[in-house]
Amino acid sequence: MTGELITVAVPKGRLLDEASALFEQALGVSPKALLSGTRRLAADAPQAGLRFISIRAADVASYVEHGAASVGVAGLDVLREEPRDLYEPLDLGIGRCAVIVAWPRGMKPLAKGVAPRIATKYTNLASRHFAARGLPAEIIHLHGSIEVAPSLGLADGIVDITETGETLKANGLVVEETVLDVSARLIVNRVALKLHAERLRRLIDALRRVVPGSGPEGR
Ligand code: PRP
Repeated sequence: MTGELITVAVPKGRLLDEASALFEQALGVSPKALLSGTRRLAADAPQAGLRFISIRAADVASYVEHGAASVGVAGLDVLREEPRDLYEPLDLGIGRCAVIVAWPRGMKPLAKGVAPRIATKYTNLASRHFAARGLPAEIIHLHGSIEVAPSLGLADGIVDITETGETLKANGLVVEETVLDVSARLIVNRVALKLHAERLRRLIDALRRVVPGSGPEGR
């Protein structure tokens, strides 16, 4: 492979294993293996024409939107919380979870006219969700450990991600409804898509072939 390497932003944390497995199946290179055991946050795979960079999941979309990476892997939760100008060619079918509304089990109804206090790191998704239902809510922004907020009296309920449901259960919370079903998407910078059209098409097609249930044209 000749020419400049295409930079791919892969998320640290829970998505890395599944994303690496897809890249390995599709292109024969594992970003996890390349990046492991080093504090370097970039690793080259010249045989595939790629450079992987290791980025916090919440920041991947910023790197790709601004062109610091041409391609990235990002959860739909992050993409819908802060919409950006990106091409989203493929649902990768990994990192499946849901953004939900949950309340303490057996919670007494709030007095009429009292807006519930909702703790969340998804302030935009939560605001839009309650607004769409015509329900007033006071949104309290937190960065993590959301599930503990109701038991400490910081909030009445939460909007957060759940995967296995274990964290909700351990904190005495029950799901009322789903705000968003989530999986990870391949995201592509719009300028890069024009500059490297052929190479990015091949990359997207190679990944599409290994995503279970993805049709020949995808979305
Ligand atoms: C997420 C989410 C929940 C947990 C849910 O937290 O905020 O706390 O995972 O997973 P479960 O349904 O399988 O129990 P994350 O690990 O991303 O850390 P955070 O506390 O920083 O949000």
